[in-house]
Amino acid sequence: MYEALVPAELGFAESGVPYSALYGDLYHSAEGGPGQARHVFLRGSQLPARWQGRARFVILETGFGTGLNFLATWAAWRADPEACDRLHYVSVEKHPFRVDDLARLHQAWPEFAELAAELRASWPTLAPGMHRLTFADGRLVLTLLFGDAERMLTSLRTGVDAFYLDGFAPDKNPDLWSAALIGRLGDLANWGASLATWSVALPVRGHLQAAGFRCDPSPGYGRKKEMLAGRYVRERPAAPPPTGAPWFSAPGSPAAPAASAWRRAAGGSS
Ligand SMILES: C[S@@+](CC[C@H](N)C(=O)[O-])C[C@H]1O[C@@H](n2cnc3c(N)ncnc32)[C@H](O)[C@@H]1O
Repeated sequence: MYEALVPAELGFAESGVPYSALYGDLYHSAEGGPGQARHVFLRGSQLPARWQGRARFVILETGFGTGLNFLATWAAWRADPEACDRLHYVSVEKHPFRVDDLARLHQAWPEFAELAAELRASWPTLAPGMHRLTFADGRLVLTLLFGDAERMLTSLRTGVDAFYLDGFAPDKNPDLWSAALIGRLGDLANWGASLATWSVALPVRGHLQAAGFRCDPSPGYGRKKEMLAGRYVRERPAAPPPTGAPWFSAPGSPAAPAASAWRRAAGGSS
């Protein structure tokens, strides 16, 4: 059913920043990974403010990579006394790191050492498909989708409140920024869902607009003058909520109802 998984090969650029030889690009800004995660993805998504007082909040990331965005989000959520009761973080990754490589990568971020150790202790076998990890007594749920993003997201059913778009540069990693993939993100978006990415490439902006996101450039991080932050603004006809349905179904599940139905169901508890 799934293609065999090819793990990431850990490499570093001269600057010491993790580097992918496969894609010819860096995993994060040379000006600092945690700073980029906080500026582009947290602040770009207006977090923590938008998850405050919510029963549940769902983040979807394209490209889990080193887990840095996840760790920065977890740390911000944990430090926020008004954070949502339950945070779902869904991330898709075609080439996951082996756990030993993650340990090497995580040494660079002592501020996340405790959380990173917890993540590695739960790190799944590198098998394709869905892996669900829980932290903080089940209040934080990390759903890792190991496989190609377009394929994995086609059969994902959930309503998403915030998208982190973090592929490698669009010209080096076009499949993670394709019109089809971004269109799928629109299908999964709750109304008003935020979108944040460091890329301001014109084709990406065009795909986002076509998918129902209104995005504007805002000040970028480090050497990047601009980044994109936006909201899902397309109105959709309401659908009746499904009865007794869970909020989420795994890729490949044959009985998954329409995305609009899941979005309506996202008001329930999970
Ligand atoms: C810039 S890195 C992500 C960095 C990550 N967010 C972090 O916090 O470390 C891009 C990631 O996208 C993954 N990727 C590239 N193409 C993909 C695809 N078609 N489907 C899923 N993941 C993909 C790469 O393997 C890589 O880990």
